[in-house]
Amino acid sequence: MNSPIIELKAVTKSFGPVNVLKGVDFAAHAGRVTALVGDNGAGKSTLIKGLAGVQPYDGGEVLFAGEPVQLGHPRDASKHGIEVVYQDLALCDNLDIVQNMFLGREEVRVGTFEEGRMEVEAAAALQSLSVRTVKSLRQKVASLSGGQRQTVAIARAVVKQSKVVILDEPTAALGVAQTAQVLSLVRRLADHGVAVIMISHNLADVFEVADDVSVLYLGEMTARLPVAETTRDDVVAYITGTKRMERVA
Ligand SMILES: Nc1ncnc2c1ncn2[C@@H]1O[C@H](COP(=O)(O)OP(=O)(O)O)[C@@H](O)[C@H]1O
Ligand SMILES: [Mg+2]
Repeated sequence: MNSPIIELKAVTKSFGPVNVLKGVDFAAHAGRVTALVGDNGAGKSTLIKGLAGVQPYDGGEVLFAGEPVQLGHPRDASKHGIEVVYQDLALCDNLDIVQNMFLGREEVRVGTFEEGRMEVEAAAALQSLSVRTVKSLRQKVASLSGGQRQTVAIARAVVKQSKVVILDEPTAALGVAQTAQVLSLVRRLADHGVAVIMISHNLADVFEVADDVSVLYLGEMTARLPVAETTRDDVVAYITGTKRMERVA
């Protein structure tokens, strides 16, 4: 396997006396989907907030393309092309699809990026992901289904040419058909060369779409494995703490 685009070495995070991340190693590779699993309270969100720069780690090292970097602010994460699609999605209901995809970009703010070009780029991003379920790019996001909203959020990562896309429970609120659509979108995003990190509670999703799985148990990484080399029963055992790898790769 090629070297990771993003790598965490022995990262720590505490809230007062509570050690939430106890020296965690983690990595994600371009073109692969890495599932991050663990029980409630294991530290998944805390790990992700550190990568997003919204809640920096206390200690340890972050390497981007092999070079040490500081992720002290969301700006730092953006600069490296790290994009988080949060569970509540952070889309603006009153704006349309195109406007949401370009939200927060410099070009838009200084008014040098014309609507026409934005629309062309938005359409190209959706097409590159083989999205055909969106009728009009000028639809207000408020009128979209959960799966379509997830699609817009993921396509935004394509527009931004993100290198690392972190998805927090992308299928948690979706029905069966929409889940299947979003999972195939996740796969295509990775096939574009993006390193996708997917937090999930759903092992069916993990085994369907992920290449690698990392398991957090009470703030420690207890397993990091290619999905093809493990089983659902074993992953459950890592999640519940009845089993851990002797050497976590
Ligand atoms: N801002 C905070 N202040 C105090 N404790 C926190 C804070 N954020 C998270 N925690 C604690 O850290 C632990 C891990 O939380 P979290 O990262 O949200 O886990 P997960 O996302 O895996 O459910 C939990 O015990 C949680 O209560
Ligand atoms: Mg969480």
